[in-house]
Amino acid sequence: MSIPFFRYPHLFAQQREEILSAMTAVMDRGAFILQSDLVEFETTIATFTGARYALGVANGTDALIIALRAAGIGQGDEVIVPSHTYVASAASIHFAGATPVLVECGPDHMIDPEAASAAVTSRTKAIMPVQLNGRTCDMDALQAIADRHDLLIIEDAAQAIGSKFKGRNAGTFGIAAEISLYPAKILGCFGDGGVLLTNDSEMSRKMALLRDHGRDETGLVVTWGLNSRLDNLQAAILNVKLQQLDAEIERRRQIARLYRDGLGGIDGFVLPPGPDDDPDHFDVYQNYEVESDRRDDLRTQLEKDGIRTIIQWAGRPVHQFEGLGFSSVRLPYTDRLFTRCFLLPMNTSLTDDEIAYICERIRKFHAG
Ligand SMILES: Cc1ncc(COP(=O)(O)O)c(C=O)c1O
Repeated sequence: MSIPFFRYPHLFAQQREEILSAMTAVMDRGAFILQSDLVEFETTIATFTGARYALGVANGTDALIIALRAAGIGQGDEVIVPSHTYVASAASIHFAGATPVLVECGPDHMIDPEAASAAVTSRTKAIMPVQLNGRTCDMDALQAIADRHDLLIIEDAAQAIGSKFKGRNAGTFGIAAEISLYPAKILGCFGDGGVLLTNDSEMSRKMALLRDHGRDETGLVVTWGLNSRLDNLQAAILNVKLQQLDAEIERRRQIARLYRDGLGGIDGFVLPPGPDDDPDHFDVYQNYEVESDRRDDLRTQLEKDGIRTIIQWAGRPVHQFEGLGFSSVRLPYTDRLFTRCFLLPMNTSLTDDEIAYICERIRKFHAG
């Protein structure tokens, strides 16, 4: 068997005719920027997540920068963020003019609330929980820290559309949140894209200005802004893809169950929480991140078996990238995790037979 980590053509093949006709309709209408398909997309996302406001922007990273700036975070401020995240989370804080303070994750690979609490200083303005791999953090613990120190929460929910904690959707806990629409995401467009969510009308107004040159509805410039709008063509594609979002999430949860059945109880091999393990969490499995005592040898063997795996972020948490100025940051838990963790294939192109094959190969390796 040959199982790639991801099958990009699959994203188009599933809904080929509907997507083509949606794209043709947009181009026939000449409706490219800030048009009705975008408004429809934003309305649907707001309903799906339960957020009061949703705004389509050019990508998830811009969304985070816009959220931070709209929240008034900038020079002299610190924002607490886990090091086990895409560099974009920390980069957004940097480009908002503030300082990212990197902290440890815990055994579930999510930001460790105790580490976040210990990192609070008089300059801390916000916590940026990362809803990693399609799981939502323990938001009660993080909210308690935020309340204690009067901090904002700005959620990086890039990987977590549809994920919930205690019945509430990722992206609806803080003052604002971001979801990425990068092609490989659970809801992916055919290029870059992102969404901002907020329940706060003033944040929504400010973020709408920031994504469109600082212009109000009449076109007058009322503040400095960016050009960071989600293309109407992408929104039209996303409107088609949204029809399958629930099914996409359900299949990912099903695959997680199959992995759990096939890989449970192997010594030295750690699985992420299962979809039915904890009623407080509804995980959507953007990624399936496992740990192995013999990770590098296992990955080499899987490669020989035709199974492609990856380690997130090119194998390094943010503090390990030498050019970013974190050489004095010590995060031993995260360092150790990055000698052990990697991602198994997780996407809806996978067949049950392929998953059974992946499980069988991993079992065989660990038995040897
Ligand atoms: C955790 C996390 N944060 C932020 C981003 C940035 O999103 P985008 O690539 O849409 O800018 C990503 C995208 O991969 C991500 O995984």
